[in-house]
Amino acid sequence: MTLQQFIQLADDVEREALAAFDAATTPAAVEEARIAFLGDARGKVKDVQGALRDVPKEDKPAAGKRFNALKETVTQRHQAALEKHGKAEQKSASVDLTMPGRSRWKGAKHPVTLVTEEIEEIFRELGFTVAQGPEAETHWYNFGSLNFPPNHPALDAHDTVFLSDDVVLRTHTSPVQTRTLQKYPPPIRVLIPGNAYRQDPFDPSHAPAFMQIEGLCIDEGISFVDLKATLNRFAQRFFGAGKSRFRPSFFPFTEPSAEMDIECGVCHGSGCSVCKGTGWIEILGSGMVHPKVFEATGVDPERYTGWAFGMGPARVALARYGIPDIRLLYDSDMRFLEQISGGSQ
Ligand code: PHE
Repeated sequence: MTLQQFIQLADDVEREALAAFDAATTPAAVEEARIAFLGDARGKVKDVQGALRDVPKEDKPAAGKRFNALKETVTQRHQAALEKHGKAEQKSASVDLTMPGRSRWKGAKHPVTLVTEEIEEIFRELGFTVAQGPEAETHWYNFGSLNFPPNHPALDAHDTVFLSDDVVLRTHTSPVQTRTLQKYPPPIRVLIPGNAYRQDPFDPSHAPAFMQIEGLCIDEGISFVDLKATLNRFAQRFFGAGKSRFRPSFFPFTEPSAEMDIECGVCHGSGCSVCKGTGWIEILGSGMVHPKVFEATGVDPERYTGWAFGMGPARVALARYGIPDIRLLYDSDMRFLEQISGGSQ
């Protein structure tokens, strides 16, 4: 059937149907017309829908549109006929008191938001306040102030999204360390949640845009012991008995540096695709703030020391809820999200 023929058919049925509803002046006649045109089994509108199958593929969108318009027009005319001539209980057919109620859609917080709020709460109890900084950052804040050498691999265009020669989408929340140190005199205890961007391909444990939570603690006499004790305390509060470990690492803006791993919540340590067979999920990088960062911000490194960390709450959510693939957190699939966050459709 050509598109032309299909439209002709729809036009004919529409004309016929409208005339039939207009001519129906008793409840029985309205019902008869409904069965003739809108009935599931023999209704002519249904036949037109069936004819859609025979329209060539490239014409289907146009034919489908015509069909929708037909159905809408005929349904409306049926409603109008019911209002005028239908049985009393059929008037306002949209109110059917016997139908089960439709439950209201209930919104809920995203798993990463839930985890972030819980992390904030734990650190709030430890005296941390929450700060924020811009997502579009200058090169200096994102790299220079944090002691990245000019040829550091992170500066490569493969990792960093450049908005202009001098402005990047921040690749981590660490530039807010610099901004905080510039703005507030120590002692400082802040937590900085926010988005960060890297040109990472999406894989089970990486996303190109992701949340980070930066922590910064500066005062006189702060040592690595404080760092370890605080982060261990956090892990204990958040993961309960789950195991955690520190591994030596390297960041240009901390010395010494360490990464913290949590036992993988998917395989519980035996190794799977999420933890890449190691049994551990890396949730944060940390270390003692490098004197160069103090120098860049005018804080006296002879007087003050401090530590910092950058945590990935999506990774934390993987470990906490045993989510097998980080992409699930970004797909907006309500069936998945409801399992963790509650809410309902
Ligand atoms: N900014 C680092 C990253 O994105 C994490 C980090 C933060 C490490 C603070 C040490 C101190 O991986």
